[in-house]
Amino acid sequence: MKHIMNILDLSVEELNDLLNLAEEIYNHPEQYRDKCHGKKLATCFYEPSTRTRLSFESAMLSLGGQVLGFSSADSSSAAKGESVADTIRVISSYADICAMRHPKEGAPLVASTYSSIPVINAGDGGHNHPTQTLTDLLTIHMLKGHMDHLKIGFCGDLKFGRTVHSLISAMVRYPGVEFVLISPKELRIPDYLRNETLIQNKIPFTEVNDLDQVIGDLDILYMTRVQRERFFNEEDYIRLKDSFILNVEKMKLAREDMLVLHPLPRVNEISVEVDDDPRAVYFKQAEFGVYVRMALILTLLGLN
Ligand code: CP
Repeated sequence: MKHIMNILDLSVEELNDLLNLAEEIYNHPEQYRDKCHGKKLATCFYEPSTRTRLSFESAMLSLGGQVLGFSSADSSSAAKGESVADTIRVISSYADICAMRHPKEGAPLVASTYSSIPVINAGDGGHNHPTQTLTDLLTIHMLKGHMDHLKIGFCGDLKFGRTVHSLISAMVRYPGVEFVLISPKELRIPDYLRNETLIQNKIPFTEVNDLDQVIGDLDILYMTRVQRERFFNEEDYIRLKDSFILNVEKMKLAREDMLVLHPLPRVNEISVEVDDDPRAVYFKQAEFGVYVRMALILTLLGLN
């Protein structure tokens, strides 16, 4: 049995197998509609979500399985003080696989040690969000056709944005990848990521605070929301929240084949007029999330 806590739990070969399976499911969904007949997915979400929870549920339903779960800590016995360890012990006897989101970093990992079913980290605090990374990788795989030799700009909240941390960790394993890290000084990537992932692996990267200056060089621009819920004070959030707004004028500076990704939800960092630009693929990206989660469920249940 395998749990998925971090994108690095998957080798490059396993990642590529998952992406190929997701592409196959995308092209031939009818061949997979009964694969999970009789299987149940539990979604245990202690923190709000639209895409991750509902795409997991849509994935299991599209595979012919069933879903159960809770969408907030308040509607579970966590509100009465139950531990994650006790909760997963019980859920192990109700479901075959579990996707868990939790505001505390490491909570899904704790759950996995007490679980007798596969546990998938659906986002833990500001730490990791491996299935968003799978979604991002499938988007790049489907729309760029290759993962290597890409110049990727990450823009916005690179400190608290767990999707940024996971995607950087995944992409450094492909040859010729370069990063441009665009953020206010206060929201730069954490030191551990800069030192242990980028510098130690000799990955080329630059840190800047001006999007206009670099947008024309990028193959992919990964925009992110400033994560209000992770700030210690509201004043700092208000000062930093609109540091970068991607608009039509900025898009004029970008290459014809640059793709704009965003894990969503969007707040203010991409103007709605940009949505009509064919390079803006963030809604397609959210759709790909269902197919890659179908591939992951099948793989973890040994049904692929
Ligand atoms: N991208 C993402 O994790 O969205 P949700 O918070 O809506 O699940």
